[in-house]
Amino acid sequence: MSRTLFRTKNVEQSIRDTEQPDHALKKTLSALDLTVFGVGVVIGTGIFVLTGKVAKENAGPAVSLAFVVAGVVCALAALCYAEFASTVPVAGSAYTFSYATLGELPAWIIGWDLVLEFTLGTAVVAVGWSGYIRSLLDNAGWHLPDYLGGRDGAHGFGFDILAAALILVLTAILVVGVKLSARVTQLVVAIKVVVVLIVIVAGAFFVTGSNYKPFVPKAEPVEAAGSLHAPLIQLMFGWAPSNFGVMGIFTAASVVFFAFIGFDIVATTAEETRNPQRDMPRGILGSLLICTVLYVGVSIVVTGMQHYSRLSVDAPLADAFKAIGHPWFAGVISFGAAVGLTTVCMILLLGQTRVFFAMSRDGLLPRFFSHVHPRFKTPHRPTVLLGVVIAVVAGFTSLSELAELVNIGTLFAFIVVAVGVVVLRRTRPDLPRAFRTPFVPVVPILSVCASLWLMLNLPAETWLRFAVWLVVGFLIYFLYGRSHSVLADRREKQPAGR
Ligand code: ALA
Repeated sequence: MSRTLFRTKNVEQSIRDTEQPDHALKKTLSALDLTVFGVGVVIGTGIFVLTGKVAKENAGPAVSLAFVVAGVVCALAALCYAEFASTVPVAGSAYTFSYATLGELPAWIIGWDLVLEFTLGTAVVAVGWSGYIRSLLDNAGWHLPDYLGGRDGAHGFGFDILAAALILVLTAILVVGVKLSARVTQLVVAIKVVVVLIVIVAGAFFVTGSNYKPFVPKAEPVEAAGSLHAPLIQLMFGWAPSNFGVMGIFTAASVVFFAFIGFDIVATTAEETRNPQRDMPRGILGSLLICTVLYVGVSIVVTGMQHYSRLSVDAPLADAFKAIGHPWFAGVISFGAAVGLTTVCMILLLGQTRVFFAMSRDGLLPRFFSHVHPRFKTPHRPTVLLGVVIAVVAGFTSLSELAELVNIGTLFAFIVVAVGVVVLRRTRPDLPRAFRTPFVPVVPILSVCASLWLMLNLPAETWLRFAVWLVVGFLIYFLYGRSHSVLADRREKQPAGR
């Protein structure tokens, strides 16, 4: 039994599968497209919304250090992703990597985990987008009724119609084709980056030194002792749950980690890249570096413009400008945020459909989903299915806590990829690796430890929800995937082959 659960898919076979005519994606993306994809999905709700919340509740001005911590964790993971993506350039990211190294069951778990990350991530960002649009509409004097503004504002029935509509429009764009969406993305990403630069450059003129005192506020005990809201690490070691102080920086890092999610999605488009061996590492590491620099800049400026205790939770960047008497800047920033969040949603949706596509091509999900559209050459079936599901989730759910669930799922994927790099070096030292992770196994081990550390700083209830999701995944695998696996089928036909 354990031999079938841990059967691995030969790397050459993974690459050959991408060449089957009816299941092949078009190879059109360049390194620049990938970097734009990366920046497009990475800069979003994390910097535009979460910065204010964590500065106010967990870290004070030291939120900029939290971004550095989260950035370092991601950089370590990125070095591992880059090696994998340049060695196994097929759709499906961590899912495909683990199928080639750790075996079918771990691959299934990671694929299932990525579906969670992308589904909830897309929904979280769509709801954030809808909030910004509503605030822009309010400025123009148009007010949506509460029951169409999402769960939070509604008493009783509530459906976030804007969030759901956004997802459905993006689904249609993705069905028509990656190249079109990459073009749209480039324009939108440019607007978003300009807005972030406006915050940094214009905001720098309004920084007041006293707002940085204290830079790391003293730790404050919170009421949550023993409750599932406390970070797991505090419960494990019986520490009194607290905010701020040095531990607060790590709690903040485990939340603002959401702001970095997405660079790994660059790896999911490996199969659609013209020269994946060269362009993948450039795309992944380049987008991560650009985003880290921008985040640290924004968080330093914003906490210098307004005392952390007064930052707004809903729209901290725009509201900091309102607070110093510059509503015009605030309007531009809200507009840029709304535009920027659109690309985040689109690329999360894209990444997710590719993982689903890869899992179905392997038979772990119904093969029906792995046929590409005859004209557009896109995986239209999973795109439409997932688009509709996310539109419903985004419409009906209030998602603030689910962002933490997205984080735990992503950190878990990082761990699997780091382990996979070490395993693949041992099992397939012969494979050409256009990019090699430096200092193996030190960097992968550091990556595992750093990701685990952030996971432990997430609330215990997030761990519980994650466990439930994984149990559901196990059930699906044992009831469906294991017996329908294409790999199993091939092995029965050629018992001697790998
Ligand atoms: N990193 C993306 C964001 O912050 C998911 O919205």
